[in-house]
Amino acid sequence: MPLTNPDSPLRLGVNIDHVATLRNARGGADPDPARAALLAQQAGADGITLHLREDRRHIRDADLPAIMGAVNLPINLEMAATDEMQRIALAHKPDAVCLVPERREERTTEGGLDVARDIARLTDYIAPLSAAGARVSMFIAPDEAQVEASAKIGAQVVELHVGAYCEYCTDGNDAARDAELRKLFAAAALAQELGLEVHAGHGLNFANVGPIAAIPEVVELNIGHFLIGEAVFVGLEAAIREMRRQMALARM
Ligand code: PXP
Repeated sequence: MPLTNPDSPLRLGVNIDHVATLRNARGGADPDPARAALLAQQAGADGITLHLREDRRHIRDADLPAIMGAVNLPINLEMAATDEMQRIALAHKPDAVCLVPERREERTTEGGLDVARDIARLTDYIAPLSAAGARVSMFIAPDEAQVEASAKIGAQVVELHVGAYCEYCTDGNDAARDAELRKLFAAAALAQELGLEVHAGHGLNFANVGPIAAIPEVVELNIGHFLIGEAVFVGLEAAIREMRRQMALARM
C-alpha cells in the first residue's frame, strides 16, 4: 500500500485512539475503533494512526489487527521503543511505525523522543522494522539536533511535535507561538534537506491547523483527539471533511 496519495499533497492521518478511550470507559465493545477507522476512510482520511500504549489505556492488542482488517488505508502504529512493541510491530507489519516517548504518568505524549541521546540503541532498534517494510518515523521536537540524529539512525520520516505551538495558540501567547512556528519551519526544511519525509501532529484543531498545514515540507498531519471530540457534535465524517477543507485552504 503506497503511503503517498498523488492527489493529496497534504495527507491526513486520523488517530482513532480516543474512540477506544470511550469504549474502555464502559468496558464493553462500543464504540468500535475499527468502525471509526472505516468511517474515517469513507470521509477521505489518507491513513489511520493508532497508539498502542504500554498500559493499553485506549488501543488494545486486538484492535490493531481488527483495524488493519477493516480498512484499505496505510496503518501508522505509534509506539514506545520497547522490545514488546517491536515484537508486536514485526508480527502485524503496519505500513508505518512512529516511535514516541512514553511515560505512564503522562496524560498524553508530552514532548518528543530524545533521538540524539539514544543513537546507537535506536539505530539497532529500527533496523528490523525497516527491513520488515515499515516506514519508520521519529516523533521529535522541532530541534536541529533531533532532526540530524533521526537522519543518522536511518529513519525515513520525522513527525514534528506541534504540541507547544498549539498550547501557545490556546493561551494567546502570540510571541511564543510565532517563535515555535519559526522552529517548526526550520526543522521541516532541515529534515527535507537531509532526505527525511516530514509529518506533524499533536493538539491540532480547526483554529490552529492553518499555519502547520502551510509548512511546505510537511506532507502528513496526524490528528486525533480534536476530531473525535468534534465527532460528538457533528459526526466523524463531517469533522474529518472540515479538517481536510481547512488543510487544503491553508495549502493554497
Ligand atoms: N502524532 C503523534 C506522534 C501522537 O503521539 C499523537 C497523540 O497520540 C498524535 C499525533 C495525535 O495528537 P492529537 O490526539 O492531539 O491530535
